[in-house]
Amino acid sequence: MKVITDINEWQIVRSSKQFNNKSVGFVPTMGALHDGHLSLIKICNEQCDLTVVSIFINPTQFNNNSDLDKYPSNIGRDIQLLSDSDVEYVFAPGFDSIYPDNYKYKVTETEFSNKLCGASRPGHFDGVLTVVMRLLNIIKPSKAFFGEKDYQQYLLIKNMVSAFFINTEIIACPVIRNDDGLAYSSRNERLTEQERKLAPIFPKLLQSGLPISEIKNQLKSLGFKVDYIEEFEGRLYGAVYIGDVRLIDNFKIKINRN
Ligand code: PAJ
Repeated sequence: MKVITDINEWQIVRSSKQFNNKSVGFVPTMGALHDGHLSLIKICNEQCDLTVVSIFINPTQFNNNSDLDKYPSNIGRDIQLLSDSDVEYVFAPGFDSIYPDNYKYKVTETEFSNKLCGASRPGHFDGVLTVVMRLLNIIKPSKAFFGEKDYQQYLLIKNMVSAFFINTEIIACPVIRNDDGLAYSSRNERLTEQERKLAPIFPKLLQSGLPISEIKNQLKSLGFKVDYIEEFEGRLYGAVYIGDVRLIDNFKIKINRN
């Protein structure tokens, strides 16, 4: 496994013979890797000849400086995990490499990006779409893999790639959960022991089939701060805070056949 931080070095590698007639799979991440990320890498390995993983904590998608400051980071541990996971290349650029324009140019989606997570995190999806567009242009993958944990992000990226005629197939990968139902997330690391025990109630209520108002009431009475619980195109999406840790999740709504 080779770790590359320099875009020029990557571009030389990317145009080398090693890549001739090979399918390149790409898994973008912000590091603090967990089983959710590793599942994307496994699917990528199954579908592609070469796997590239990026680690870049993208400041432009954090609408809140303290969230960015507290975002967990352990690149040494991440690289160790990746070297045990059949990854050929890790791309770990710095801010100036990805944003030579200092983010004067950005990609904006004007409808769906303002709903759900976008409603309470202005500019968040501009940052996500812009960094993913840049990474796709740098890595030039045949396929890129995204988790359904961030379903709104996945849909926005899939539609961006189609809108801009980018030659990469976007693949959705299922949500990986702890035994108690809580989806793996880098932010879970920041929960106290007590908060961690409370957290699985959020996905449990989200898939309970209860009316949205009832789900919200129960969450609030248990001490969650509710950002939103909303249905959109057959899926129930939610975002809550436990203390200052924000958790998101979503479930496909089961059709009631009674
Ligand atoms: P990050 O939160 O590190 O997530 C990287 C990828 O892992 C995303 O596609 C996310 O949906 C997926 N993922 C996270 N937790 C998962 C879980 N429990 N099960 C399945 N997949 C999971 O999402 C981002 O980074 C950034 O926005 C990024 C796309 C890298 C752009 O900066």
